[in-house]
Amino acid sequence: MSRPVDVLLEFLEAEQARGVTHVHLDDGAREALREVFHSTKAKKAAPPRLESAPVAVAEISLDSTPAPVAAAKIPIEGTTHAEQLDSLRRQAENWPTAKSLGSLRETMVFSAGNPEARVMLVGEAPGYQEERERQPFVGPAGQKLNDILKAMGLSREEVYISNIVKFRPSTPKQTTNNRKPTAAEIAACLPLIRAEISIIRPACIVALGETAAEGLLGITGTVASTREKWHDYEGTPVRITYHPSYLLQTGDGHQTKRQVWEDMLAVMEKLELPISAKQRGFFLPQA
Ligand code: URA
Repeated sequence: MSRPVDVLLEFLEAEQARGVTHVHLDDGAREALREVFHSTKAKKAAPPRLESAPVAVAEISLDSTPAPVAAAKIPIEGTTHAEQLDSLRRQAENWPTAKSLGSLRETMVFSAGNPEARVMLVGEAPGYQEERERQPFVGPAGQKLNDILKAMGLSREEVYISNIVKFRPSTPKQTTNNRKPTAAEIAACLPLIRAEISIIRPACIVALGETAAEGLLGITGTVASTREKWHDYEGTPVRITYHPSYLLQTGDGHQTKRQVWEDMLAVMEKLELPISAKQRGFFLPQA
């Protein structure tokens, strides 16, 4: 017997086949979808791992903004992870749903790192420096992220670093200032990060800040209320922690530094990385 979610997917695929890229939902439809989503989640015994490419992606936004539902199949070419990411990168360059919003800048900043990485770190969106260099996390927040990785005994080359939104959000008369992406901008780019995860298939994901958590998991709580536990993204464990820019704002003496480190210790345990006694004690208040 078909589950309601299968009927919905069939409908979206049929719409897509006839060229429809957006389906508008009224409040009643959103409520019905929420019920389908929650009942499917409750019934799911063991969440399946994502299939490898080609990547089928259906995006359903359940928030209250009038964001469209975009059902998109991203055809991915190549056999190795590196080839598949390259195929995705080419398509991301002119990603139509992002371009059509008109609120994101032109330059696409793709991910960086190891296509075979066991851990994927996901941020918000590129900023001024990232756009200039076309690399994620190369500005001040990126330097902080490098420090965190180093403390874990990892380098940028070993992990995979990505963003929920692949274009810098624009502002009027923009110079070096950056802004948080909107729900519509997140929804527009979501198929890209979903495809990246299904290619890389990391052992775990770190969501850096609320925007990443919201995009990946559809949850809107603060980092304080959602960290310290494992979340699930289609079978892949996700740890939420503070964004490195928040660490820059709060300063070195602040307890946030230890909290981020505790989140990273949990990630290291999940990855079964060696942890020394010295590492366990990092950023604890001095007695
Ligand atoms: N902040 C992010 O979330 N991503 C970047 O790439 C840089 C800063």
